[in-house]
Amino acid sequence: MATEKQYKDSFMEKIEKTEKAEKYGERTEVEYFASAVAEINAAKYGAERPGFYIQTLGCQQNEADSERIAGLAVMMGYKAAGDPSEAKLIIVNTCAVREHAEIKALSLIGEYKHLKDKDPEIIIGVGGCMVTQKHRSDKLKNSYPYVNFVFDTGAVHRVPELVFNAVCGKKREFIHSDKFEITESIPTYRKAPHTAWLSVMYGCNNFCSYCIVPYVRGRERSRLPEDVISEAKELISSGAKEITLLGQNVNSYGKDISNGISFAALLRKICALDGDFRLKFMTSHPKDASDELISAIAEEEKIAKHLHLPVQSGSDRILSLMNRRYDSEKYLKIIDKLKKACPDVSITSDIIVGFPGETEEDFKATLDIIKEVRYDALFSFIFSPREGTPAARMENFVPKEVSTERFSKLLELSNAISLERNKRFVGRTLKVLAEGVSKNDSNMLTGRSDSPRPIHFKGDNSVIGEFVNVRVTEAETFSMNGETVKR
Ligand code: SAH
Ligand code: SF4
Ligand code: F3S
Repeated sequence: MATEKQYKDSFMEKIEKTEKAEKYGERTEVEYFASAVAEINAAKYGAERPGFYIQTLGCQQNEADSERIAGLAVMMGYKAAGDPSEAKLIIVNTCAVREHAEIKALSLIGEYKHLKDKDPEIIIGVGGCMVTQKHRSDKLKNSYPYVNFVFDTGAVHRVPELVFNAVCGKKREFIHSDKFEITESIPTYRKAPHTAWLSVMYGCNNFCSYCIVPYVRGRERSRLPEDVISEAKELISSGAKEITLLGQNVNSYGKDISNGISFAALLRKICALDGDFRLKFMTSHPKDASDELISAIAEEEKIAKHLHLPVQSGSDRILSLMNRRYDSEKYLKIIDKLKKACPDVSITSDIIVGFPGETEEDFKATLDIIKEVRYDALFSFIFSPREGTPAARMENFVPKEVSTERFSKLLELSNAISLERNKRFVGRTLKVLAEGVSKNDSNMLTGRSDSPRPIHFKGDNSVIGEFVNVRVTEAETFSMNGETVKR
């Protein structure tokens, strides 16, 4: 067998030749570099494939990206490792939405240094929203010399090239393409075949004044309906029972492409596909939540009876400062229509507490809207100033003690409402997708119905990945308990 050095040299030669001749021959760039790394790995490790580990922070969009990075890692001849200490390739997929997410990413990267101290062959790459900000990428370049490469959210498809360069000992790379294009046909590697993310669009045009997402994910780009539908078909035929369509603002799906269809029309087309599956989606922006969307939720059996409709604040003054482009009246009208069309619907929301200038009165308006809507679940966050966003430059920051106190009040209220909402299911039999063994009790399974709250029940492991009928016996604040029944 050729030595590793000979191998590398011959591969470098091959690459140079192909670059000069024809751009990567018949293969795509992605495949070219992935197979180069796979060949190097095979020469180096033989049949025992090296491990990869991806640490994902942030939202479902990042989860979906990590599945694509994992797909590329498998193409490169790596196998999934259960723990970073068993991996030769470690990728941290970062989030920037709040300061806490960035601190967490930096501390994780710091931990991986210790692994690399012991095994210098480990390759560490950092991607995602945090490093799409130039100042963060520069920080990693200057203060984290053991990080081999950094890639922005538009450069996921370049991971094989980056790993190839790292394996060949080339210099560190920091990709700032600023090109947020859609790269189709990257394979995905999913841990569980029965639940799947499906991105329908990328980016955001809304520029809510507090939010970093438009800066790190670029403008809205919708995937073509035929691409989304064919991916949905593939997912269903490979065993997906729950598909969650993803986008920062799915309600503006299709507006940026010629002959585009609306999001509601896309939902209906996917529902028309054969198979027993459930369709979920997020996130909907209230300014674009249409009657057509409400009808689709109410009428289509396969769509989960759940809408995540982030309100952020109940105060019209704060909503305007946030640049949300709706007021509480418009928001409540949507909720009213939705409840009328679909009385059993679960509604969830995101709330920001302590936005600059938020007064006690503004905060009270938020509590009022929560009481009025009665959310099944609330995701609340204390405002975190993000460099480069308008809100970070606003005056009248709310003191930390005040926002922390408001945050606890809000939690107390929303937990009480959650418990009350979950109670409506007690005694009812729900169609539950058994997701896996319960994290808290290995004798129990955990699954989900249309409602976002998990349900714990006793059942045989063989039903994992299947729909089962579960009668809810008990409601708690964050979950429910139940028992399987035959129907
Ligand atoms: N596109 C989605 C979600 C984006 S981020 C939407 O528009 O709803 C998820 C949530 O994080 C937001 O809904 C918001 O509540 C919260 N968030 C975003 N930026 C924040 C910031 N700077 N400080 C605190 N919370 C923030
Ligand atoms: Fe951020 Fe607003 Fe876009 Fe959501 S809609 S990602 S909150 S800018
Ligand atoms: Fe975070 Fe990026 Fe999602 S900032 S919330 S991972 S889009």
